[in-house]
Order: sequence, then structure tokens, then C-alpha cells
Amino acid sequence: MTTIETVDTLLADLPYMNRARAELLRDIFAENDVKDVLEIGFYHGKSSAFIAAILEEQDAGHLTTVDLATARNNTPNIEEVLNKTDLSHRVTPLFAHRSYTWDLQRLISARPRPQFDFCYFDGGHTWDSTGFGVLLVDMLLRPGGLLLLDDMDWSISTSAYYERTPHLTKKYDADEQAALPVRRVWDLILPHLGYERIREYPAYQYGLARKAF
Ligand SMILES: C[S@@+](CC[C@H](N)C(=O)[O-])C[C@H]1O[C@@H](n2cnc3c(N)ncnc32)[C@H](O)[C@@H]1O
Repeated sequence: MTTIETVDTLLADLPYMNRARAELLRDIFAENDVKDVLEIGFYHGKSSAFIAAILEEQDAGHLTTVDLATARNNTPNIEEVLNKTDLSHRVTPLFAHRSYTWDLQRLISARPRPQFDFCYFDGGHTWDSTGFGVLLVDMLLRPGGLLLLDDMDWSISTSAYYERTPHLTKKYDADEQAALPVRRVWDLILPHLGYERIREYPAYQYGLARKAF
């Protein structure tokens, strides 16, 4: 059986999620009986493999995960990573043409609408992407479902990507460049939606919140 330890060994050099974060997720899943998982942003699929390994250890659950179609060009890509770790049966990767926001719309419109116990949100950290993304994810979470936001202190002004693309940075006002958009979503949108902000994990840049029952 593939475990967190197996994934850590097989994908040792691959970014991004690390074993300590995966072990935290394992604890959260066990404490909250998490089975149906949604992930926003898989990149190479390392976090997807860790999440799938936790579900495999539990012998229950499935992960639906979304990234851009261009993620197929990553070396390795998510399909290769899941084959290598023997976890493909636990994961449905969705490849968005433009943005996960439209793929979330497809999930919301599907009948029956899928419902998730947990969402790991780790993609598109701008105000527009995370703010609208969280509103859409809320429509897919069960009452009492959990939302784990990554990169609570990310900003455009400290992003290596935006440093390499000044023409994109210039589209944002100075205060938006300096802002911490994921934290703004945590502070403004989650309370508005009635979420309980359970706790932050500063060492991991995580914030964990629960949808109202
Ligand atoms: C930090 S990486 C994810 C890392 C992964 N969760 C892990 O820990 O192994 C963020 C990902 O979000 C994706 N992303 C950003 N904006 C997106 C959007 N609007 N739609 C789909 N994917 C997006 C990027 O393509 C990138 O692969």
C-alpha cells in the first residue's frame, strides 16, 4: 500500500508539499472523518499524491483536483506522478483551459452536485482568484466541511513570478501589490460566509476554517 512515507521517498526532489504538511493533513483527516477531497492547484501533483496516500491509508476517499491544462507539460506531470506512486485510482485530475473558476462552475452545475468534506486551496493567490474561488468552493463543501488555505502571507510584491513579469505587476495598484490577498479572504470573506476560523499554522502558511453546520 502506498503511504505518506512511500510518496516522500519516491518524490523526494519534487516541489512542493512536504512530509510534515502531509502528516498534518493526515491528522486533520482522521479527526474529521474526511473522505471526499477537493484540491485547487496541483502543479506536479505532489500534494495530490500525499492526499491520495492518506486516503489509501484510510482505505476510503477520493480526491478531485484542478490545475491548468498547461500542467500536462510539467515534468513529471500529475499523471506520471500518480502512476509512479500507484495512486491514480484515488484521484480525478481536472485540466482547466483558463481557470479553475470555470471548472468549479461545471462541478456546481453537475447533477447530482458533488459535495466535499475538505478543500486544500493552493492555486491562484490573487484577490480575484482566491476570493471568487473560495465563494465557489463554499458551494461544494458539505455543512461542517473544512477549507485549508495555503500561502496566507503571499503577495504580488514578494512573488518571484511577478518579479519576472513586471508588465503583469503594473496592472495592480500599489496597495494591491503590497496586500496579502489570501489573508484578506480569510479576514473578510470567510467571516461573511459564516466560517469558523479554526486556527492558523504560521510555520506552514496555512489557515484552517470550517463551514457552518
Ligand atoms: C503552488 S502550485 C500548487 C502546488 C501543489 N499544491 C503542491 O503542493 O504540490 C499552484 C498551482 O496553481 C495553479 N493555478 C494558479 N492559478 C490557476 C487557475 N486560475 N486555474 C487553475 N490552476 C491555477 C498553477 O498552475 C500552479 O500549478
